[in-house]
Amino acid sequence: MTEHRRPTSPLSQTQPFDAVEDQPSNPSSNATIGDVLADRLSRRDVLRGALAVSVVTGALGSLPTRQAVAAAATTFKFSELASGSDQNHHVAAGYEARILIRWGDAVLSYAAEFDPAQPAAETQVRQFGYNNDFLGYIPLDGSSDHGLLVVNHEYTNDELMYPELAQGATRRETVLGISEHLVRASMQAHGGSVLEVRRTGGTWAVVKNSKYARRITAETAMQISGPAAGHPLMQTNADPSGTRVFGMVNNCAGGITPWGTWLTCEENFNFYFWNKAAAEALPNAAAFKRYGVPDEIYPWGRYIERFDISREPNEANRFGWVVEIDPRDPKSVPVKRTALGRFKHEGAGNTINGDGRFVVYQGDDQRFDYVYKFVTAEKVDLANPAANRDILDTGTLYVARFDADGTGIWLPLVAGHEKLAAFKSQGEILIHARLVADALGATKMDRPEDIEVHPKTGKVFVLLTNNNKRKAGDIDAANPRAENRFGHIIEITPDGGDHAAAGFRWEILLKCGDPAIAAVGATFNPLTSKDGWFGMPDNCAIDAEGRLWIATDGNSLEETGRGDGLYALETEGAARGTSRLFYRCPEGGELCGPCFTPDLETLFVAVQHPGERDDDGPAATYENPRTRWPDFKDGVPPRPSVVAITRQGGGKIGV
Ligand code: FEO
Ligand code: CA
Ligand code: CA
Ligand code: CA
Repeated sequence: MTEHRRPTSPLSQTQPFDAVEDQPSNPSSNATIGDVLADRLSRRDVLRGALAVSVVTGALGSLPTRQAVAAAATTFKFSELASGSDQNHHVAAGYEARILIRWGDAVLSYAAEFDPAQPAAETQVRQFGYNNDFLGYIPLDGSSDHGLLVVNHEYTNDELMYPELAQGATRRETVLGISEHLVRASMQAHGGSVLEVRRTGGTWAVVKNSKYARRITAETAMQISGPAAGHPLMQTNADPSGTRVFGMVNNCAGGITPWGTWLTCEENFNFYFWNKAAAEALPNAAAFKRYGVPDEIYPWGRYIERFDISREPNEANRFGWVVEIDPRDPKSVPVKRTALGRFKHEGAGNTINGDGRFVVYQGDDQRFDYVYKFVTAEKVDLANPAANRDILDTGTLYVARFDADGTGIWLPLVAGHEKLAAFKSQGEILIHARLVADALGATKMDRPEDIEVHPKTGKVFVLLTNNNKRKAGDIDAANPRAENRFGHIIEITPDGGDHAAAGFRWEILLKCGDPAIAAVGATFNPLTSKDGWFGMPDNCAIDAEGRLWIATDGNSLEETGRGDGLYALETEGAARGTSRLFYRCPEGGELCGPCFTPDLETLFVAVQHPGERDDDGPAATYENPRTRWPDFKDGVPPRPSVVAITRQGGGKIGV
């Protein structure tokens, strides 16, 4: 989600949509190229560059040009796309970007034709949901041409979706005016979809009437498992056992496990709860405040009892979890895995550790919140996928402290620690993971989004999207910029290559933003073109060649002179820190879910909220969106869509 709309710092959970702040004025925007190079080429890059060219050319004693270094070290082969923003999407020359599925298209058999004039829960539940975010491709029979595509539907832009919704002055006002009928439709547009997809004659399509097809919504029956299941804080009038819940909400990014399940992560679950006065009167009001519950963005609680804190004070504790789903079995019950902790989960990048245990890295996406990892107690059994069914219920959750000397420590969230005497059980520790991490002294980060593990090097990339509330007095080594509007990327190296180890080393891979404005302090490699830099990194993917791709959320003509898109970022050698633009969204859209097939011939991306305008000014509306992508038909609103990108004539992407 483009978070500048919600300035929910831990200290301030109550403001309305945030204003988009002005670009910093900068007297040194005309810095000489020499200044820029000096600012951005670190000593290590120079050393690595010289070394790389020495190895490649065998030349000793002569200083190579930077262009020669780049040519030797660049791993991405494609013609860079021009940056900018307009009503359509764009991909680099030589590639095709085709719509695979749009909001409202059929997922289940007997789905109604998409008819934006008649929104209803009954039709939406069989159709593709809104705001596609995480994408995961699970090959069927090992194929890169036939598989399951799992898709998160994070949230709804009611102001763009519904013609009958009276338009207020702002997005927030419009959404607050929603009827029960439309709330029920929106609940079915949340959650996720399982699609069977196949490439035939070079073109991808969703398989109709597939036995795998599934919609998961804000009302799907789910199980709660792990140490917090059954805890008194998880018990409600409808579920005195504290082990059953209906639905998942605000599923942002996620992960695919090595045993083929889908981890889908609840992020801003506080948006859906209602009745601030009731929450403030509760005995554990401080915990509600720390989680920003209720946020009263979506007025579901006006119509549906369980989302009203005054009627069901514990329902909110049953959201904010990682949900595990078996996409091969459409009848399987999704499971909320409480051992992974409750917070505003971004994703679930994961790896099998050298000792066989499973490790999930997790970001809590809020200004000044934390980076976590979870390590299972048991080893993964790849020979017998069913043996891993409940492996995520037992293990240790850790939160990261980044120290100024470039080392870091994983602090365990485990009952019995002297600093955690206030927490009575492991269940409570997991339900209130944020408060526990506060007590342990974790490092407050600049909004951790995706975290992914490089499958070959074991390095861990942590994308920090921005934090315009960090003051000069709040900076630290890992979050070194005040008013960090453009974000940065940290690279973690686990001690001894052991993802279960207590210690790690870290360094900043990249500070984002316009490198031509010295005051921004961006550190892109100078080989990056004027089109290639970006702000606000959010999701990422590592392809079969081991290369990093970054998707952004929050760029716009006003913020960075460019829309959101997908960037190829070099992480090794002389070109480290060089970025190039490959794909960009239509206006108002955020790019999510980059996901490659194993053969690297297809890249799926998810365009979220095309046409949106969401700041303190007038919102985009159903009648007046910023684009009508991808249909471009009068009367048809913009539609979040999954896009399949392939190379013209076939072949690997960017190779
Ligand atoms: Fe839903 Fe943190 O993005
Ligand atoms: Ca998102
Ligand atoms: Ca985001
Ligand atoms: Ca995100």
